[in-house]
Amino acid sequence: MTDKARSSTSTEQFQQAFWVVVPAAGVGERMLADRPKQYLPLAGKSVLEQTLNRLLSHPGIIGVVLVLAEDDSYWEQTELVTEKRILITRGGEQRFHSVLNGLKRLAEIIPKQDWVMVHDAARPCISHDDLNSLILATPKTKDGLVLGAPVRDTMKQVDSSAQVLSTLDRSCLWHAFTPQVFRLGELEAALTACLDKNLPVTDEASAMEYCGYHPQMVQGSEHNIKITRPKDLCLAEMILKTVAEEQE
Ligand code: C5P
Repeated sequence: MTDKARSSTSTEQFQQAFWVVVPAAGVGERMLADRPKQYLPLAGKSVLEQTLNRLLSHPGIIGVVLVLAEDDSYWEQTELVTEKRILITRGGEQRFHSVLNGLKRLAEIIPKQDWVMVHDAARPCISHDDLNSLILATPKTKDGLVLGAPVRDTMKQVDSSAQVLSTLDRSCLWHAFTPQVFRLGELEAALTACLDKNLPVTDEASAMEYCGYHPQMVQGSEHNIKITRPKDLCLAEMILKTVAEEQE
């Protein structure tokens, strides 16, 4: 089913309407650009607007907590500034501080046992098919969900000088993307525990794993790329163009 066909389905199809925390308070230094990467142009809008439009046009998403940098001067200039389904809060030093701030804002309006999604602003190609997969898998999970894909290349473990130590069993390895889905209270507690113990947190799942949870991987599209380097913008533009053509 195409995104368009799925979007025409109603909210009633889903057991729960999801709030999404979208961390967008980073700088994106590797883009070597004049502004944070979430505000770079992509297919006629900014990366951030593309991401938010993908999320808010899905019938299973009720709203977004958008986490912006303290000194963000770009958001006010976007078309979505008047969108009532977007709540704004401020970011922190690292990504997981920003996510934690977003969760705290959400805890003011929804119960802690509700499932919530976290999705990077820098992944504008998230498809409605992938959102459907996560939403439909949620009632079957206990510990949460991580969108991802099995690795296809041979994986090498190396030392600090990139000399190969061993070849890993790739049948046990997946790439982890966002969105990731966890219960609001459990994720907030897990991120806080990692913060208190000064543990590195690269994604929400890693904080949950530290606290003894075993989230479920859900296979998603490899088109859900993260904008990291300048060439990623060209690739994202091609992906969004292909999606738009499929919907015509
Ligand atoms: O830099 P990276 O691509 O890992 O960032 C992933 C997401 O986290 C981006 O959407 C970025 O804006 C966000 N972020 C944040 N607060 C930070 C650092 C990153 O919200 N302090």
